[in-house]
Amino acid sequence: MACFLFFLFLSSLFTLGHAQPSVVNERTNSSIWPGPIFYLNSTLQSTWHNKFINRRFQGSDGSKTRAVLLRQMSEKSLAVMCGFYCIDTCTNYSFSVVIAGGNDLSLVWSANREHPAPENTTLQLTREEGLVLINSDGIKIWSTNTSSVSGMNISSSGNLILFNDEGNPVWQSFDHPTDTLLVDQKLIEGQRLTVSSSQYNWSQGPYFATITSALGFAAYTDVDQGPPMMYYQLLPTQNMGSANESVFAEFSQVGLLVNMGTRAQWNYGEYNAIPSSDTVIVFLKLDSIGNLKIYQHDNE
Ligand SMILES: *[C@@H]1O[C@H](CO)[C@@H](O)[C@H](O)[C@H]1NC(C)=O
Ligand SMILES: *[C@@H]1O[C@H](CO)[C@@H](O)[C@H](O)[C@H]1NC(C)=O
Ligand SMILES: *[C@@H]1O[C@H](CO)[C@@H](O)[C@H](O)[C@H]1NC(C)=O
Ligand SMILES: *[C@@H]1O[C@H](CO)[C@@H](O)[C@H](O)[C@H]1NC(C)=O
Ligand SMILES: *[C@@H]1O[C@H](CO)[C@@H](O)[C@H](O)[C@H]1NC(C)=O
Ligand SMILES: *[C@@H]1O[C@H](CO)[C@@H](O)[C@H](O)[C@H]1NC(C)=O
Ligand SMILES: *[C@@H]1O[C@H](CO)[C@@H](O)[C@H](O)[C@H]1NC(C)=O
Ligand SMILES: *[C@@H]1O[C@H](CO)[C@@H](O)[C@H](O)[C@H]1NC(C)=O
Repeated sequence: MACFLFFLFLSSLFTLGHAQPSVVNERTNSSIWPGPIFYLNSTLQSTWHNKFINRRFQGSDGSKTRAVLLRQMSEKSLAVMCGFYCIDTCTNYSFSVVIAGGNDLSLVWSANREHPAPENTTLQLTREEGLVLINSDGIKIWSTNTSSVSGMNISSSGNLILFNDEGNPVWQSFDHPTDTLLVDQKLIEGQRLTVSSSQYNWSQGPYFATITSALGFAAYTDVDQGPPMMYYQLLPTQNMGSANESVFAEFSQVGLLVNMGTRAQWNYGEYNAIPSSDTVIVFLKLDSIGNLKIYQHDNE
């Protein structure tokens, strides 16, 4: 067994810089600037063809995002968006949630990471089905499969929310984690964070993290034969009363909270972020080689 399995760490703070993300207007139409909320009752089209999206961002690593919804933070160099993300040759795109700041784009959620699709793909928001991704042959690649949708919202912490006429969420990306936990996002029993094979290939790789009442929050690697092998574990030891509540891990402004269903929570990976979600965006990611790291985009 390879010894790197024992070198997993929860790293200290990673700062991703501070400059304005580059905005590229290839087909400029300044009257179209996506906002953070889209209502189906508006007169705007609820179909976005990847190729014809005007608002484009570039990261220093060769990543690009075409924004469908865009929420700028009070610190203007920071933004949270959803849209079509690609990297390197940009042959294929994934409909994603992306954080922009410091000349970097960070991919924090993907709808279709197992089925990336070329530029001629369309996103639709409908009342009956929610968000739907359709390829150039008219085939559905992905959908939220929700009904009673009246609009969508990208929250300041990076949650893509579809809401109904009452404004209540009917679907949210936070309930479908990929490899990242954003602030206020919970990983509940039965859910997994699963790595992408690499920065360039978003297919699932061999490492995942999950939480159970027996073993706490732990990271595992798939092995050729037999059950996955655990290589990292956060298991609170004290018993603080009966364990009859739900078991979950939650990423917060102060670190990763592990709640074992008792009244106490344990806090790991504490760091000194400015406790304001408007000037700093932090997230915890299980990277493609199985390291759990906390990243920060800030405004310095
Ligand atoms: C920009 O978009 C608006 C609204 O769709 C349209 O009326 C206008 O003609 C467009 N302008 C250009 C230069 O494409
Ligand atoms: C659309 O719905 C929102 C929320 O109910 C409301 O605030 C807004 O005025 C509506 N817009 C139109 C054009 O009807
Ligand atoms: C791009 O997507 C198409 C269709 O999903 C797939 O056939 C092709 O292999 C993908 N190419 C890359 C480089 O991922
Ligand atoms: C969509 O793009 C793919 C890859 O570039 C291409 O193979 C396909 O023919 C295109 N479809 C249409 C309808 O243009
Ligand atoms: C969509 O949701 C309905 C109701 O929950 C379910 O019956 C159906 O199988 C789902 N369709 C897909 C494609 O997942
Ligand atoms: C959109 O999300 C923000 C949080 O970032 C929230 O304050 C606002 O109420 C939401 N709006 C709707 C219509 O859901
Ligand atoms: C992406 O990774 C998966 C899983 O490791 C692999 O099967 C697939 O061939 C890779 N795709 C490309 C385009 O390299
Ligand atoms: C958990 O147990 C406590 C004490 O026995 C009780 O007061 C509480 O209602 C229980 N909670 C749930 C969700 O069952």
